[in-house]
Amino acid sequence: MPAIAARDRIIVALDLPSVGEAAAMVERLGDSVTFYKVGLELAYAGGIDFARDLVRSGKKVFLDLKLHDIPNTVARATERVADVGATYLTVHAFPHTMRAALEGSAGSGLKVLAVTVLTSNNDADLAEAGYAVGVADLVRRRALQAAEIGVGGIVLSPEEATAMRALVGGGLDLVTPGIRPAGSDVGDQKRVMTPRRAIEAGADRLVIGRPITQSQDPKATVESIVLDIQQ
Ligand code: C5P
Repeated sequence: MPAIAARDRIIVALDLPSVGEAAAMVERLGDSVTFYKVGLELAYAGGIDFARDLVRSGKKVFLDLKLHDIPNTVARATERVADVGATYLTVHAFPHTMRAALEGSAGSGLKVLAVTVLTSNNDADLAEAGYAVGVADLVRRRALQAAEIGVGGIVLSPEEATAMRALVGGGLDLVTPGIRPAGSDVGDQKRVMTPRRAIEAGADRLVIGRPITQSQDPKATVESIVLDIQQ
């Protein structure tokens, strides 16, 4: 991947309950942010049309919809997401689902990102769900399958970035949430890294929500993150 400008590495997670609040945040952030993530909460409150508007206004959009269904449905839903003009779409890293999403995104600018294992799961949760392997093994297996199938990237913890880069090579975008600028509230995130350290560890893009959206001065917070990355 060609070098990405520091500012374009930041994806602001618009985890807000209404389009009105999301639009106010985007307005406040102005030119300081080029890339936004719309997740399930906002998607179910008019967020898809809002994403379309963001794209029209020149922003990049990550639709974090974590698709998983029969292949025909995934492929067709992915085509519709491509029509929105989104840059990234998440799907669960099941081989059928990843292949179907790739088929649906063919010929568009949409990159499919695979979610290997949700970070809310531990080994006991996987056992309860009927898996005979633990989280670490399943993450590795699915990351390798994602690379083989040829998706555009993987969502992962910044702590996994270095090992994952070594495992899957340079062809995939590594997108990491769990980012906290030095001194900011960790909140409910358990494994966090500063923006600069995450980039050093091999992350291509950083998903950052509350440290920016709940900041007293969101724009100034973005500028300090840009500076941190540029160092
Ligand atoms: O506010 P914060 O910076 O913690 O937001 C992180 C964003 O990344 C949220 O939208 C969250 O849902 C998402 N995410 C995450 N951990 C994952 C996958 C997605 O925090 N494993």
